[in-house]
Amino acid sequence: MKPYVILSAAMTLDGKIATETGSSNISGEKDLERVHELRKECDAIMVGIGTVLADDPRLTVHKVDASPEDNPVRVVVDSKCRTPIAARITNKDARTIIAGANEYKYEFIVSDRYDTFTKRGVDFFWSGDKRVDLVSLMNYLHEEGIEKLMLEGGATLNFSMIKAGLIDEIRLCVAPMVVGGANAKTLFDGDGYPLMDLAVKLELVDSYLLEKDLILTYKVIK
Ligand SMILES: NC(=O)c1ccc[n+]([C@@H]2O[C@H](COP(=O)([O-])OP(=O)(O)OC[C@H]3O[C@@H](n4cnc5c(N)ncnc54)[C@H](OP(=O)(O)O)[C@@H]3O)[C@@H](O)[C@H]2O)c1
Repeated sequence: MKPYVILSAAMTLDGKIATETGSSNISGEKDLERVHELRKECDAIMVGIGTVLADDPRLTVHKVDASPEDNPVRVVVDSKCRTPIAARITNKDARTIIAGANEYKYEFIVSDRYDTFTKRGVDFFWSGDKRVDLVSLMNYLHEEGIEKLMLEGGATLNFSMIKAGLIDEIRLCVAPMVVGGANAKTLFDGDGYPLMDLAVKLELVDSYLLEKDLILTYKVIK
């Protein structure tokens, strides 16, 4: 069993979710409100460690009216437990789970960093050898009561999740901007598929304009 997974992202017309230097303010204010309403509907939000290191997100509901109970559980996919002690995702606003990989577990749990995180209430889940096993993580989160999970990137984790067949829906804000840059992150990076025939197929189920941004909803065809 796994949660229903909605990938939520904002990208430029050329498919970039950040510039080469890591700037990622893409959505308009109305779109941010839409995203925070979606956060409110979800039981958990998950990001990769690359996103935590680049953006230091809070991953709480703060752009729309909300109470502390509306904040979803926050999950960081972080094999080597590189999440900084001061990362905002570990504050007390909501439960935080760091998902690490077994190879790095023992060295980490004898460290001061582990003590600091656990004193702050951060939980850990271990799976996979050198990298987090996303299927096991989804099973665990479902057992923890997470029925709807919002995946908020970034590019590497998005591709691993879709390749593993774990994404059910994609909600995308396409901003009318072009930023270019061969090394700028796109919506899905990772290893990619060698042939178009292997591409994950999608069905467009909704589209509308929100001020200048185009909002698209796709279901993943399984
Ligand atoms: N515009 C948007 O909507 C949006 C949203 C989110 C992020 N972003 C941007 O995306 C960028 C970050 O993307 P990113 O690709 O560098 O990082 P990422 O996808 O956030 O995190 C990737 C990291 O997750 C860890 N990981 C652990 N297990 C994994 C697995 N099974 N599959 C994949 N990853 C796994 C890996 O590090 P370890 O091996 O150390 O575990 C991997 O390097 C930032 O620039 C951020 O601003 C944009």
